[in-house]
Amino acid sequence: MTFTIIVNFKHYKQASGPRSEDLLRNLITCRKKPETSVLFAVGPSDLRNAITIAPGRIIAQSVDTVSMGAFTGSLSAEFLQQVGISGSLLNHSEKRVDRIIISRLLEGAKEMGFPLYICAESLDEVRSFSEMKPDFIAYEPPELIGGDVSVSSAKPGIISEASDICRKSNVKLLVGAGVKNADDVRRSRQLGAQGVLIASGIVLSRDPATALNSLIEAA
Ligand code: G3P
Repeated sequence: MTFTIIVNFKHYKQASGPRSEDLLRNLITCRKKPETSVLFAVGPSDLRNAITIAPGRIIAQSVDTVSMGAFTGSLSAEFLQQVGISGSLLNHSEKRVDRIIISRLLEGAKEMGFPLYICAESLDEVRSFSEMKPDFIAYEPPELIGGDVSVSSAKPGIISEASDICRKSNVKLLVGAGVKNADDVRRSRQLGAQGVLIASGIVLSRDPATALNSLIEAA
């Protein structure tokens, strides 16, 4: 079964504009491993350049509508797919979206074959979103995001429960928040997650490629 690692560039200075391209060029030198997929969630203005550097491995950090049209200031799944973006995070705790909108976007994205990674902040949300049958749910407790304590050590019981819920609905579970090293990846996997999301542990690292390589090793 494929294990997915998503590196979220967020809106960090170290991962925006020309620095986003440098970081991406550095990270694509990391080792490739069968059954391990490494994707990069890049900021909206860096998406077009990112796909020329890492085609097939770039996702968006959020999406606003399904189709293109009279939607000022929006980013649509239709446009993203057209330019070669491979999916999008949705409802990240730093970019929350109404449940009705999530459901609408999910329906449209499924028809297009555009994967959405629906972020959930709690077990209740994991339950509720799993009923919508997305391909992926990304469980990230907001209080651990950007910190040094990883979700896999602080909330092991919740990961196992989330994994049971997702398995029953045939949804893949990713987990994130505070993930930093190989142990976090191993533990998350043992608890039933099929991938991890990581931001600060890579983007703010002194040696991002070494940090990512150690996660890939452990995946
Ligand atoms: O989307 C991943 C992110 O929210 C986790 O952030 O810095 O705790 O790895 P971080």
